[in-house]
Amino acid sequence: MIPEGGYYYNYKKTDDICDDVCGQVTRAARAISRLRCALRELDFKILILLFMVLPTVIYTIYLHGQKITYFLRPLWESPRKPFNEIPHYYHENVSMETLCKLHGWRIRETPRRVFDAVLFSNELDMLTIRWNELNPYVSEFVLLESNSTFTGIKKPLLFAENRERFKFVESRLTYGTIGGRFVKGENPFVEESYQRVALDQLIRIAGISDDDLLIMSDVDEIPSGHTIDLLRWCDDIPEKLHLQLRNYLYSFEFFLDNKCWRASVHRYRVGKTRYAHYRQTDDILTDSGWHCSFCFRYISEFVFKMNAYSHVDRVRFAYYLDPSRIQDVICRGADLFDMLPEEYTFTGIIAKLGPIPHSYSAVHLPGYLLQNIDKYKYLLPGNCKREPG
Ligand SMILES: *[C@@H]1O[C@H](CO)[C@@H](O)[C@H](O)[C@H]1NC(C)=O
Ligand SMILES: *[C@@H]1O[C@H](CO)[C@@H](O)[C@H](O)[C@H]1NC(C)=O
Repeated sequence: MIPEGGYYYNYKKTDDICDDVCGQVTRAARAISRLRCALRELDFKILILLFMVLPTVIYTIYLHGQKITYFLRPLWESPRKPFNEIPHYYHENVSMETLCKLHGWRIRETPRRVFDAVLFSNELDMLTIRWNELNPYVSEFVLLESNSTFTGIKKPLLFAENRERFKFVESRLTYGTIGGRFVKGENPFVEESYQRVALDQLIRIAGISDDDLLIMSDVDEIPSGHTIDLLRWCDDIPEKLHLQLRNYLYSFEFFLDNKCWRASVHRYRVGKTRYAHYRQTDDILTDSGWHCSFCFRYISEFVFKMNAYSHVDRVRFAYYLDPSRIQDVICRGADLFDMLPEEYTFTGIIAKLGPIPHSYSAVHLPGYLLQNIDKYKYLLPGNCKREPG
């Protein structure tokens, strides 16, 4: 240990040496040379490290930290248990009896009733396409909307304001609203599950009973009509069944993969079935529809969704919300949040690095979309430019 006096003495001495070297200069210059003298005592390399390398490293981690942890994901997270993929047979000219048989099921005398239940946020176009796709097969449409997003932002009751657009389901619609709790700083998943519990009640109000089919999915996860027709006509289908959907981003121009699994169909059991959006069983029916994520008409809707999103921590920088950046990202098929692909192996991540390639196929898309291309042009290949508004 250096005694206090000794320390003072050393300090003083250094000062003296410096005064000797740089004695006859002006006051301003003296300050600078003093600094130089002080620095002279430190190793130059350490200085470079401290003042250049270290800030660069910190800045890089700040910009790309999420990417680094995502890239290392295969080290700390193993892939989910694979699903049991049930082969799916379909052709429009094959009879329902044959289709059921192909799946190892028997045909019923009458179809089951089908309930389609969604939590609605702001996806008006997706809802229109969804309900038209499912219209011939659904007995009761159930829709719940809140005046709060999952992240606690106040939102208008958009469905209520546009209800007249959905006259074609009015006689079969059970519509409910729920007030947001607007708790600041809470995990968005809490508000989300609060809304799902309310949706459970609304489904019961809609009159569901045992062995009716219940579709649990987000608005933009659209089961194909023939899939629901098959499941309502065939006996012996699993009690719970996930639907494998084709993942699209921004429009049907950017086909990502066919790994969307969250949507599910349930043979309802009173008192047992709970509305959920996580993995509920191992069985999944392949190629059962479409998931069109961030498929919005207006840039403003992108901004809204980016803020309302459950993973709002992904909006790390304000410029992510800049409209011209968003437009550019959409047309390139890049990631709105500048994130790495959500994969669990290094080969999986590397295979998907970079923007999604353009697809020019508009084969096997929802029928209503192709019957109304003038209204939904932005969803089709080659139309990535969004309207202002
Ligand atoms: C479907 O069946 C009808 C009548 O059985 C036949 O005329 C038609 O060519 C078939 N279409 C296809 C695509 O096989
Ligand atoms: C949200 O809706 C609830 C119930 O309708 C209402 O009491 C509340 O004032 C609304 N909150 C806002 C911020 O609009």
